[in-house]
Amino acid sequence: MDGLAADVLAGVADEVRRCVLCPLHRGRLNAVPGEGRADAEIMFIGEGPGEDEDLQGRPFVGRSGKLLTEALEAAGLRREDVFITNVVKCRPPGNREPTPEERNICTKSYLFRQIDAVNPRLIVLLGSVAVQTLLNISSVTAVRGRAFEKGGRRFFVTFHPAAALYNPANRDIFFHDIKKAKELADSLKSFPRQSRLV
Ligand code: URA
Repeated sequence: MDGLAADVLAGVADEVRRCVLCPLHRGRLNAVPGEGRADAEIMFIGEGPGEDEDLQGRPFVGRSGKLLTEALEAAGLRREDVFITNVVKCRPPGNREPTPEERNICTKSYLFRQIDAVNPRLIVLLGSVAVQTLLNISSVTAVRGRAFEKGGRRFFVTFHPAAALYNPANRDIFFHDIKKAKELADSLKSFPRQSRLV
């Protein structure tokens, strides 16, 4: 385990818990910095905490999280071996989408530092907010199941697990995508990891 990366992540998490940089801090019970291995091969990025995450201070612990955990296990991944976080770290009121300004502040202050610290081989973007924010692509449906390279990093796009919850037809696709992401990350193991960049 890379001790330096773990220290950076712990520092970011501390700052996130004290953050007052955008209005979202006013409504939170707990900030949700993210969790997982500091040297994870794969990083998962969702939209932002929901009610359960806000209560517990941990990412993807509600119904969407349960489905994500199941999909990880079905693909042969353990939740504790990956790194899971969100574009924004505080729950938007009423679960609205985070604004461009909120996303901008939170990614520049925290998410990009987390990506640099973990330096994953593959970043899996869960749903439209993550895809818009990291790749500047507006429609997930047009690009899901595909990998992209940007700024020296490799990304894989799939649905947000909530989309798989609300539309059972999407469930198989979501499980299939997570498996494909795992296989892609495995196939990259013979190459050295990227140096630090986003
Ligand atoms: N939805 C997200 O995008 N992230 C979470 O952590 C939980 C639900």
